[in-house]
Amino acid sequence: MLLRIPDVLTPAQVAEARTILGNAEWVDGRVTAGHQSSKAKDNMQIPEGHPAAQQLGQMIVSALGQNPLFLSAALPLRVFPPLFNRYTGGQSFGTHVDNAIRQVTGTPHRIRTDLSATLFFAAPDEYEGGELCVEDTYGTQAVKLPPGHMLLYPATSLHHVRPVTRGGRVCSFFWIQSMIRDDGHRSLLFDLDTAIQRLSGDHPEHPSAVQLTGVYHNLLRQWAEL
Ligand code: NI
Repeated sequence: MLLRIPDVLTPAQVAEARTILGNAEWVDGRVTAGHQSSKAKDNMQIPEGHPAAQQLGQMIVSALGQNPLFLSAALPLRVFPPLFNRYTGGQSFGTHVDNAIRQVTGTPHRIRTDLSATLFFAAPDEYEGGELCVEDTYGTQAVKLPPGHMLLYPATSLHHVRPVTRGGRVCSFFWIQSMIRDDGHRSLLFDLDTAIQRLSGDHPEHPSAVQLTGVYHNLLRQWAEL
């Protein structure tokens, strides 16, 4: 499931982040690529653990912790500290798949990458190209979102970033280990939660809302890994 999560950051947070990103140190993005994807990857990144990345990463993770759509769709267990990349002057990232397991640098922690996330900082009209293209069973989806919006997609998908032929594309990217490993189970819980929210809103007194909430939690209990 590909899901657009609007307004993860407020316009004020986006503006602050852009100032910090504009002054940060950028290095060759191949530093975090695996052997195979390093051949496909051509972009710039802020080094992992750089103070700017840490500060903005905390802003993003805390915003996500209060975002009902993200929490319902991702059912997050762990969020990898957000990284930041920039594409200019024809840079691109060819088709690849993200590593399944990632070590959180400088810690003993590893996360299984169930979901990938890309949060946009530049407005779509500030650059040409740069679409994030995710291959799923419905074909390739080409995505370019307004600043502060985020795309959440299965980390199992092949994906690429088209060449940026004008301007600059600046994004944060990171991964989520979900309590629900299976994408199909997670989608089902998301659909059920969405339906329960709607039912509870339209018919607050309806007894089925409580019964369905019970079903939701019992499925979560069956499938969740903590
Ligand atoms: Ni990737």
